[in-house]
Amino acid sequence: MRIGIVTGGGDCPGLNAVIRGAVLHGEETYGQSFIGYRGGWRGTAVGDVVPLTRQDVRGISKLGGTILGTSRTNPWEFGGEDAVRAVMREHRIDAILAIGGDGTLAVARRLHDAGIHVIGVPKTVDNDLNATDMTFGFDTAVSIATEAMDRLRTTGDSHARCMVAEVMGRHAGWIALHSGMAAGAHAILIPERRTGMDELAGWVQSARDRGRAPLVVVAEGFVFDGDETAHSTKGNDAFGRPRLGGIGERVAALIEQRTGIETRATLLGHIQRGGVPTAFDRVLATRFGMRAIDLVSAQAWGRMVALHGTDVDDVDLDEALGDSKRVSEARYLEAAQLFG
Ligand code: F6P
Repeated sequence: MRIGIVTGGGDCPGLNAVIRGAVLHGEETYGQSFIGYRGGWRGTAVGDVVPLTRQDVRGISKLGGTILGTSRTNPWEFGGEDAVRAVMREHRIDAILAIGGDGTLAVARRLHDAGIHVIGVPKTVDNDLNATDMTFGFDTAVSIATEAMDRLRTTGDSHARCMVAEVMGRHAGWIALHSGMAAGAHAILIPERRTGMDELAGWVQSARDRGRAPLVVVAEGFVFDGDETAHSTKGNDAFGRPRLGGIGERVAALIEQRTGIETRATLLGHIQRGGVPTAFDRVLATRFGMRAIDLVSAQAWGRMVALHGTDVDDVDLDEALGDSKRVSEARYLEAAQLFG
C-alpha cells in the first residue's frame, strides 16, 4: 500500500516524530511506501508531493515544526475531492494520513465521507481535543512557558514589579493552567473563567503585601468579566477565526492603573510552538504515527488515533470533532486556592 502524509493547521512540536514513526513502522512491518504532501491540504489537491522514505525521515524526531510544511487551507479551495482523487491516482496513493487539529480533521472527515481512505492523527498545542487524553506538543509548550515564567520571576523580583505572561490557548486554558501552576503564578486567567479587575487586583496586592513580585498568567482567549469577546485587534485567520494575542498588555495596564504597582507584559506567542519537542512529546507522537499505520493496514478508514490513559487506541473521526476539552471548574478552583 502507498500512503500520503499531510500536516495541516498550525504547526506543533512532535509532527516530525509522527511522520518518522509512521514511515519506519509502515516500511518495516507492512512493506508500505510513502509520499509527503507539501504545505497542508493544498498539496493534496494540487499534487505538491515529495518522496518520504526511511532515508528522508532520518533523525527528524527531535526537529520542531514539520518537514512537509503546513497551511490553513482546505482542498475545496483547489478543486475538492475530485482534485484529491486525481492526485492520488497520479501518484498511486491508496490512503491519506492526516495530522492536524479540528480544522484538518474536519477536512479529513469530509474526504472520508466522499469515499477517500483517510486516517487521522490529532494535533493541538492547546490540548483541547476531548477524544484524546493528551496531544503531543502540549508538554513542550508548557515546558517552554514555564521556563519563560521562571525567568520573568527573577527580573520581576529584582525590580519589585508585577509580571504578566501571555500564553496560547484560544478556547481552553490548559497551557496557562499547567505552566502557571508549575511556575507558582499568583493568578491564572483562562478562557473558561471570566474574572473581574477587583478579584485580580486582590490577588496581585496580596502577593505584593507578602513581599513577592506578582506573576500573572493569562491565556490569549481570556475574556474579562463584562467583555463580550476575547481581545483581538489583528483581523481573522485563514479559517475566519479572530486572530488573538495582546490581552497581556491590557491586563498589565489595568493592574498598574488599579494597584500602582509597576507592571510589564510578555507575550510568549509562537515561541511556545517552535523548537525541540520534549521526550514525552516525541514518544507520544511516535506512538501515534505507528498506531495510525496499524489502522491503515487494518483499513479502519475514518478513524483517528487517541491516547486513553497510557494506551494508544482509536476513535471515530466524528467523535474527534465533538466537544472540545475545557478546563473544568474543579481544576480551576484547585489552582485558584493558591492564587494571591
Ligand atoms: O490553535 C493553536 C493556536 O496555537 C492558538 O492557540 C492560536 O490562537 C493560534 O494557533 C495561532 O496560530 P497562527 O498564528 O499560526 O495562525
